[in-house]
Amino acid sequence: MEILIRKDYAAMCDEAAGLLAEEIRRKPALVLGLATGRTPLGVYERLIRLHKDGKLDFGRVRTFNLDEFISLGPDHPRSFHHELRTHFLDHVNIPRQNIHSLVGLIHNVEHYCEVYERKISAAGGIDIQIVGIGRNGHIGFNEPGSSLGSRTRPKTLAEETLADHRKAFPPGEEVPRFCVTMGIGTIMEAKRVLLLAAGAEKAEIVRKAVEGPITAAVPATVLQVHPRTATILDEPAASKLESARYWKWIDENKAKLDEIARPKE
Ligand code: GLP
Repeated sequence: MEILIRKDYAAMCDEAAGLLAEEIRRKPALVLGLATGRTPLGVYERLIRLHKDGKLDFGRVRTFNLDEFISLGPDHPRSFHHELRTHFLDHVNIPRQNIHSLVGLIHNVEHYCEVYERKISAAGGIDIQIVGIGRNGHIGFNEPGSSLGSRTRPKTLAEETLADHRKAFPPGEEVPRFCVTMGIGTIMEAKRVLLLAAGAEKAEIVRKAVEGPITAAVPATVLQVHPRTATILDEPAASKLESARYWKWIDENKAKLDEIARPKE
Protein backbone atom coordinates (compact mmCIF):
# COMPACT_ATOMS: atom_id res chain seq x y z
CA MET A 1 0.00 0.00 0.00
CA GLU A 2 1.26 3.45 -0.84
CA ILE A 3 0.65 5.93 2.00
CA LEU A 4 0.91 9.62 1.18
CA ILE A 5 0.59 12.03 4.10
CA ARG A 6 -0.09 15.65 3.23
CA LYS A 7 -0.10 18.56 5.66
CA ASP A 8 -3.78 19.47 5.43
CA TYR A 9 -7.03 18.78 3.60
CA ALA A 10 -6.19 21.15 0.72
CA ALA A 11 -2.83 19.46 0.10
CA MET A 12 -4.48 16.03 0.32
CA CYS A 13 -7.02 17.08 -2.34
CA ASP A 14 -4.27 18.56 -4.56
CA GLU A 15 -2.41 15.25 -4.45
CA ALA A 16 -5.51 13.14 -5.21
CA ALA A 17 -6.73 15.44 -8.01
CA GLY A 18 -3.25 15.46 -9.54
CA LEU A 19 -3.13 11.68 -9.52
CA LEU A 20 -6.60 11.39 -11.09
CA ALA A 21 -5.84 14.02 -13.74
CA GLU A 22 -2.67 12.17 -14.68
CA GLU A 23 -4.64 8.90 -15.06
CA ILE A 24 -7.28 10.59 -17.26
CA ARG A 25 -4.62 12.16 -19.49
CA ARG A 26 -2.88 8.80 -19.82
CA LYS A 27 -6.18 7.02 -20.63
CA PRO A 28 -8.90 9.44 -21.82
CA ALA A 29 -11.58 6.69 -21.75
CA LEU A 30 -10.79 5.96 -18.10
CA VAL A 31 -13.38 4.04 -16.06
CA LEU A 32 -13.67 5.96 -12.82
CA GLY A 33 -15.40 4.71 -9.66
CA LEU A 34 -16.89 7.61 -7.69
CA ALA A 35 -17.49 7.95 -3.96
CA THR A 36 -19.65 10.37 -2.02
CA GLY A 37 -19.20 11.79 1.49
CA ARG A 38 -17.46 15.00 2.54
CA THR A 39 -13.92 13.73 2.00
CA PRO A 40 -13.71 13.70 -1.82
CA LEU A 41 -15.53 17.04 -2.29
CA GLY A 42 -12.31 19.07 -2.52
CA VAL A 43 -10.93 16.60 -5.04
CA TYR A 44 -14.01 17.03 -7.26
CA GLU A 45 -13.69 20.82 -6.94
CA ARG A 46 -10.12 20.66 -8.22
CA LEU A 47 -11.06 18.36 -11.12
CA ILE A 48 -13.84 20.78 -12.11
CA ARG A 49 -11.38 23.68 -11.97
CA LEU A 50 -8.91 21.82 -14.23
CA HIS A 51 -11.75 21.13 -16.66
CA LYS A 52 -12.98 24.75 -16.66
CA ASP A 53 -9.40 25.95 -17.24
CA GLY A 54 -9.27 23.73 -20.34
CA LYS A 55 -6.67 21.44 -18.79
CA LEU A 56 -8.69 18.24 -18.44
CA ASP A 57 -11.13 16.63 -20.85
CA PHE A 58 -13.72 14.21 -19.49
CA GLY A 59 -15.33 13.63 -22.92
CA ARG A 60 -14.55 9.89 -22.97
CA VAL A 61 -14.47 9.16 -19.21
CA ARG A 62 -16.97 6.60 -17.90
CA THR A 63 -18.13 6.58 -14.28
CA PHE A 64 -19.69 4.12 -11.83
CA ASN A 65 -21.05 5.22 -8.45
CA LEU A 66 -20.02 3.23 -5.42
CA ASP A 67 -23.23 3.11 -3.38
CA GLU A 68 -26.71 4.50 -2.76
CA PHE A 69 -29.50 4.58 -0.18
CA ILE A 70 -32.40 2.32 -1.07
CA SER A 71 -35.70 4.27 -1.27
CA LEU A 72 -34.21 7.62 -2.33
CA GLY A 73 -34.89 8.57 -5.94
CA PRO A 74 -32.12 10.15 -8.04
CA ASP A 75 -33.55 13.65 -7.48
CA HIS A 76 -33.71 13.38 -3.71
CA PRO A 77 -31.20 15.94 -2.37
CA ARG A 78 -29.65 13.35 -0.01
CA SER A 79 -29.29 10.64 -2.64
CA PHE A 80 -25.68 9.96 -3.58
CA HIS A 81 -26.64 10.24 -7.24
CA HIS A 82 -27.87 13.79 -6.63
CA GLU A 83 -24.80 14.66 -4.54
CA LEU A 84 -22.40 13.47 -7.22
CA ARG A 85 -24.30 15.39 -9.88
CA THR A 86 -24.33 18.66 -7.97
CA HIS A 87 -20.75 18.42 -6.70
CA PHE A 88 -19.10 16.96 -9.79
CA LEU A 89 -20.90 15.40 -12.73
CA ASP A 90 -22.98 18.46 -13.74
CA HIS A 91 -19.81 20.55 -14.01
CA VAL A 92 -17.63 18.43 -16.31
CA ASN A 93 -18.18 17.10 -19.83
CA ILE A 94 -18.80 13.43 -19.10
CA PRO A 95 -21.47 12.31 -21.61
CA ARG A 96 -24.68 11.37 -19.82
CA GLN A 97 -24.65 7.84 -21.27
CA ASN A 98 -21.22 7.27 -19.70
CA ILE A 99 -22.53 7.90 -16.18
CA HIS A 100 -23.65 4.78 -14.30
CA SER A 101 -25.36 5.20 -10.96
CA LEU A 102 -26.75 2.76 -8.49
CA VAL A 103 -30.34 3.94 -8.19
CA GLY A 104 -32.17 3.72 -4.89
CA LEU A 105 -35.72 3.36 -6.19
CA ILE A 106 -35.85 0.05 -7.95
CA HIS A 107 -38.13 -2.95 -7.95
CA ASN A 108 -35.88 -6.01 -8.18
CA VAL A 109 -32.77 -4.88 -6.31
CA GLU A 110 -30.84 -8.12 -6.57
CA HIS A 111 -31.30 -8.39 -10.33
CA TYR A 112 -30.41 -4.72 -10.69
CA CYS A 113 -27.13 -5.32 -8.79
CA GLU A 114 -26.22 -8.20 -11.10
CA VAL A 115 -26.84 -5.99 -14.13
CA TYR A 116 -24.64 -3.26 -12.56
CA GLU A 117 -21.80 -5.77 -12.16
CA ARG A 118 -22.19 -6.80 -15.80
CA LYS A 119 -22.02 -3.14 -16.88
CA ILE A 120 -18.75 -2.71 -14.99
CA SER A 121 -17.33 -5.80 -16.71
CA ALA A 122 -18.56 -4.65 -20.12
CA ALA A 123 -16.72 -1.34 -19.58
CA GLY A 124 -13.53 -3.35 -19.09
CA GLY A 125 -13.53 -3.03 -15.27
CA ILE A 126 -12.87 0.00 -13.11
CA ASP A 127 -9.50 1.66 -13.73
CA ILE A 128 -9.47 3.72 -10.59
CA GLN A 129 -11.89 3.59 -7.69
CA ILE A 130 -12.13 6.43 -5.18
CA VAL A 131 -13.16 5.33 -1.67
CA GLY A 132 -13.57 7.10 1.64
CA ILE A 133 -13.70 5.32 4.98
CA GLY A 134 -16.50 5.22 7.54
CA ARG A 135 -15.69 5.53 11.25
CA ASN A 136 -16.33 1.80 11.58
CA GLY A 137 -13.97 0.97 8.70
CA HIS A 138 -16.59 0.56 5.99
CA ILE A 139 -15.70 1.18 2.36
CA GLY A 140 -18.63 2.00 0.13
CA PHE A 141 -21.42 0.77 2.36
CA ASN A 142 -19.68 -2.52 3.14
CA GLU A 143 -20.20 -2.57 6.87
CA PRO A 144 -18.09 -4.58 9.34
CA GLY A 145 -18.53 -8.30 8.76
CA SER A 146 -19.16 -7.91 5.02
CA SER A 147 -17.64 -10.75 3.04
CA LEU A 148 -14.28 -9.69 1.69
CA GLY A 149 -15.34 -11.31 -1.59
CA SER A 150 -18.78 -9.65 -1.76
CA ARG A 151 -20.28 -8.23 -4.95
CA THR A 152 -22.73 -5.38 -5.58
CA ARG A 153 -25.78 -6.08 -3.41
CA PRO A 154 -28.38 -4.67 -1.03
CA LYS A 155 -27.29 -4.27 2.62
CA THR A 156 -28.59 -3.14 6.00
CA LEU A 157 -26.68 -0.17 7.38
CA ALA A 158 -25.03 -0.29 10.80
CA GLU A 159 -26.56 1.87 13.52
CA GLU A 160 -23.44 4.02 13.80
CA THR A 161 -23.54 4.68 10.05
CA LEU A 162 -27.18 5.78 10.37
CA ALA A 163 -26.15 8.08 13.24
CA ASP A 164 -23.32 9.57 11.14
CA HIS A 165 -25.74 10.34 8.30
CA ARG A 166 -28.47 11.67 10.63
CA LYS A 167 -27.26 15.29 10.50
CA ALA A 168 -27.50 15.41 6.70
CA PHE A 169 -31.24 14.68 6.80
CA PRO A 170 -33.89 17.21 7.83
CA PRO A 171 -35.53 16.66 11.24
CA GLY A 172 -38.41 14.22 10.93
CA GLU A 173 -37.02 12.51 7.84
CA GLU A 174 -35.65 9.05 8.57
CA VAL A 175 -32.23 8.02 7.30
CA PRO A 176 -32.82 5.05 4.98
CA ARG A 177 -31.79 1.86 6.73
CA PHE A 178 -30.99 -0.06 3.56
CA CYS A 179 -28.54 0.57 0.76
CA VAL A 180 -27.02 -0.87 -2.40
CA THR A 181 -23.25 -0.94 -2.57
CA MET A 182 -20.50 -2.27 -4.77
CA GLY A 183 -19.09 -5.27 -2.92
CA ILE A 184 -15.63 -5.52 -1.45
CA GLY A 185 -14.78 -8.03 -4.20
CA THR A 186 -15.99 -5.49 -6.77
CA ILE A 187 -13.81 -2.74 -5.28
CA MET A 188 -10.82 -5.10 -5.09
CA GLU A 189 -11.07 -5.74 -8.84
CA ALA A 190 -10.47 -2.07 -9.62
CA LYS A 191 -7.02 -1.74 -11.17
CA ARG A 192 -6.20 1.06 -8.77
CA VAL A 193 -7.86 2.22 -5.55
CA LEU A 194 -7.58 5.68 -4.08
CA LEU A 195 -8.42 5.70 -0.38
CA LEU A 196 -8.96 9.18 1.05
CA ALA A 197 -9.29 10.18 4.70
CA ALA A 198 -9.12 13.54 6.41
CA GLY A 199 -9.54 14.83 9.94
CA ALA A 200 -8.61 13.66 13.43
CA GLU A 201 -11.92 11.79 13.84
CA LYS A 202 -10.66 9.31 11.20
CA ALA A 203 -7.22 8.80 12.83
CA GLU A 204 -8.07 5.70 14.85
CA ILE A 205 -9.84 3.87 12.02
CA VAL A 206 -7.08 4.85 9.57
CA ARG A 207 -4.51 3.30 11.94
CA LYS A 208 -6.53 0.07 12.03
CA ALA A 209 -7.09 0.08 8.25
CA VAL A 210 -3.45 0.65 7.36
CA GLU A 211 -1.54 -1.04 10.19
CA GLY A 212 -4.01 -3.46 11.75
CA PRO A 213 -4.60 -7.12 10.92
CA ILE A 214 -6.70 -7.86 7.84
CA THR A 215 -10.20 -8.67 9.00
CA ALA A 216 -13.79 -8.44 7.76
CA ALA A 217 -14.47 -6.62 11.07
CA VAL A 218 -12.64 -3.62 9.52
CA PRO A 219 -13.49 -3.89 5.80
CA ALA A 220 -10.92 -1.27 4.69
CA THR A 221 -8.06 -3.53 5.90
CA VAL A 222 -8.61 -5.68 2.80
CA LEU A 223 -6.97 -2.92 0.76
CA GLN A 224 -3.65 -4.02 2.28
CA VAL A 225 -3.73 -6.92 -0.21
CA HIS A 226 -4.80 -4.81 -3.19
CA PRO A 227 -1.82 -4.58 -5.55
CA ARG A 228 -2.25 -0.87 -6.24
CA THR A 229 -3.88 1.19 -3.53
CA ALA A 230 -2.80 4.76 -2.85
CA THR A 231 -3.95 6.01 0.55
CA ILE A 232 -3.87 9.79 0.74
CA LEU A 233 -4.26 11.31 4.21
CA ASP A 234 -4.01 14.69 5.82
CA GLU A 235 -1.81 15.00 8.93
CA PRO A 236 -4.70 14.77 11.43
CA ALA A 237 -6.00 11.53 9.84
CA ALA A 238 -2.44 10.12 9.87
CA SER A 239 -1.74 11.23 13.45
CA LYS A 240 -2.20 7.77 15.01
CA LEU A 241 -0.13 5.83 12.49
CA GLU A 242 2.71 4.15 14.35
CA SER A 243 4.83 4.09 11.20
CA ALA A 244 4.10 7.64 9.99
CA ARG A 245 7.82 8.43 9.88
CA TYR A 246 8.44 5.32 7.76
CA TRP A 247 5.64 6.17 5.30
CA LYS A 248 7.07 9.68 4.89
CA TRP A 249 10.55 8.25 4.26
CA ILE A 250 9.18 5.97 1.52
CA ASP A 251 7.32 8.92 -0.01
CA GLU A 252 10.42 11.16 0.09
CA ASN A 253 12.36 8.53 -1.84
CA LYS A 254 9.60 7.76 -4.35
CA ALA A 255 10.79 10.00 -7.19
CA LYS A 256 14.32 8.62 -6.95
CA LEU A 257 13.06 5.01 -6.91
CA ASP A 258 10.81 5.69 -9.92
CA GLU A 259 13.84 7.01 -11.83
CA ILE A 260 15.70 3.78 -11.13
CA ALA A 261 12.73 1.53 -11.77
CA ARG A 262 11.49 3.28 -14.92
CA PRO A 263 14.44 5.02 -16.55
CA LYS A 264 13.55 7.43 -19.34
CA GLU A 265 14.56 6.01 -22.77
C1 GLP B 1 -20.65 7.06 3.66
C2 GLP B 1 -20.37 6.52 2.30
C3 GLP B 1 -18.93 6.11 2.16
C4 GLP B 1 -18.04 7.22 2.68
C5 GLP B 1 -18.29 7.44 4.13
C6 GLP B 1 -17.39 8.49 4.76
O1 GLP B 1 -21.02 6.11 4.58
N1 GLP B 1 -21.17 5.40 1.94
O2 GLP B 1 -18.66 5.84 0.80
O3 GLP B 1 -16.71 6.86 2.48
O4 GLP B 1 -19.63 7.85 4.25
O5 GLP B 1 -17.90 9.75 4.54
P1 GLP B 1 -17.13 11.09 4.82
O6 GLP B 1 -16.17 11.25 3.69
O7 GLP B 1 -18.19 12.15 4.81
O8 GLP B 1 -16.46 10.95 6.13
